[in-house]
Amino acid sequence: MIINKKLNKKSPLYMQIAKIIIDKIDDSFLKEGDKLPSERELATLFKVSRTTTINAYRYLEKNGYVNTKTGSGTYVIKENNQKNQLKHKIQWDEFFRPYGQLSMSSLMTEIINSSMMLDRISLDAGMPDPELYPLDKFKQLFCENMKYFKGQDFGYMSIEGLSGLRQNIAQMLVEKQIKAKYDNIMITSGSQQGIYLISKVLIEPGDYVVIEAPTYIGVIPVLKAAGARILSLPIKNESRLDILKDYIVRYRPKFIYTIPTYQNPSGNVMSKKQRKELIELAINNRLLIIEDDPYSDFYYDEKPPVSLKATSNYEGIIYISTFSKIIMPGLRLGYIVAHPTLISRVAMEKQYTDLHSNNLSQLLLNLYLKEGELTKHLEVVRKIYKKRRDIMARHITKSLNEYLDFSLPKGGFYIWGKILAPINSRKLLHEALNVGVSFIPGDAFYDIPTQGKELRLCFVSNSEDKIKESVVRLSRAFSSIIKKDRIINKDNNRPLI
Ligand SMILES: Cc1ncc(COP(=O)(O)O)c(C=O)c1O
Repeated sequence: MIINKKLNKKSPLYMQIAKIIIDKIDDSFLKEGDKLPSERELATLFKVSRTTTINAYRYLEKNGYVNTKTGSGTYVIKENNQKNQLKHKIQWDEFFRPYGQLSMSSLMTEIINSSMMLDRISLDAGMPDPELYPLDKFKQLFCENMKYFKGQDFGYMSIEGLSGLRQNIAQMLVEKQIKAKYDNIMITSGSQQGIYLISKVLIEPGDYVVIEAPTYIGVIPVLKAAGARILSLPIKNESRLDILKDYIVRYRPKFIYTIPTYQNPSGNVMSKKQRKELIELAINNRLLIIEDDPYSDFYYDEKPPVSLKATSNYEGIIYISTFSKIIMPGLRLGYIVAHPTLISRVAMEKQYTDLHSNNLSQLLLNLYLKEGELTKHLEVVRKIYKKRRDIMARHITKSLNEYLDFSLPKGGFYIWGKILAPINSRKLLHEALNVGVSFIPGDAFYDIPTQGKELRLCFVSNSEDKIKESVVRLSRAFSSIIKKDRIINKDNNRPLI
């Protein structure tokens, strides 16, 4: 009944499968009471993961096409029911303005939905370990100080953020050798908002901007939505500065977005020399530099070179950072350090969507910083994360040596692996989700097509035991694909890909 139609990459796979079944129901090939194939059979039919077919059936159930009877199966339900439900539905996609990020969002949906598997080990999100969040300290600060807070502490405040917190951040930056006064600093709701606001005030549709390739996954759609044309600068290329010079001459880009320290995802650290050369080039060509620096406190051997912002007084360096990684993402607090003129313009932009960042978070964070807790917290987590990095690296070397190549990152959250076997990282992800482990395939971090041979593994979010188990599962995923490919290739009588 359900023909094995070819799926494409234009929309999420589960939606395509659901649509095929809906068409069959609409054309009366499938009738009320018909039993549909099991999730497993459907997965085999379409050559997709079980998670995908589970999602397809969930979608159909939510939209009134099928009914799942536990222990019995999935059945087509009454036509009237469907018609009634359909009348109230809106095809939302028809209302949205065109937006070209489908393949990535379907990938993320698949990863997020697969978290339904109870014991899945997630190496995907760049998230500090929730077990290490300094919750006790925050609870204590809340309880001790709530009685001193006044009504006006919870009214509207300045868009740029709580003045005490801005002053405290300026103080904290002294240690990082960044000279910033209160009016150079603006609090944002996470650094993602910082990236968004800066893009919004700087980019006019058609402007060129430079990003590293690979780069932080969340920056690419923001730049595109602002109408930027993206130039990719390969991060590991020896002549990257020459390529940048070429871009400057040919395209006059407005800015370069860079993560110089423990880059996400590659773990790369820009050397002192490269930092100086980049700044020199930027000064000479009036190129702005957006320096994103969420990871520089996570050094596991020696301290990294100081930031670009601390290296030079060039006004064109816009520094962004966050408390998401060094404390906890749920605070939703980050900050921008830049010239006051830019700060005022960004504040104007912020008020269109968010009058200021959350008071309670800012008040508590301010107290936390004042008590000098951050330094102590970082000392603790740095040691734990270093051990986790080493364990993941050791186990990859032991069990995945023939499949995965990587260099040990000196800091940050990620191991950036290169797949040595003839396997694509998205295909590996499908298999990995089936055996209960997730990661992000490397092509998600690029704006340009890649060979699909890279992947990012986050080593900080899970305990040492889970990290060991995750590598065992990854190894299982690799072996399983290789075994399947051998069978297919034997059947097709053609050489291995
Ligand atoms: C390089 C980089 N910039 C920005 C962010 C966003 O962080 P926030 O939670 O502060 O919005 C992340 C998060 O992964 C990141 O890795």
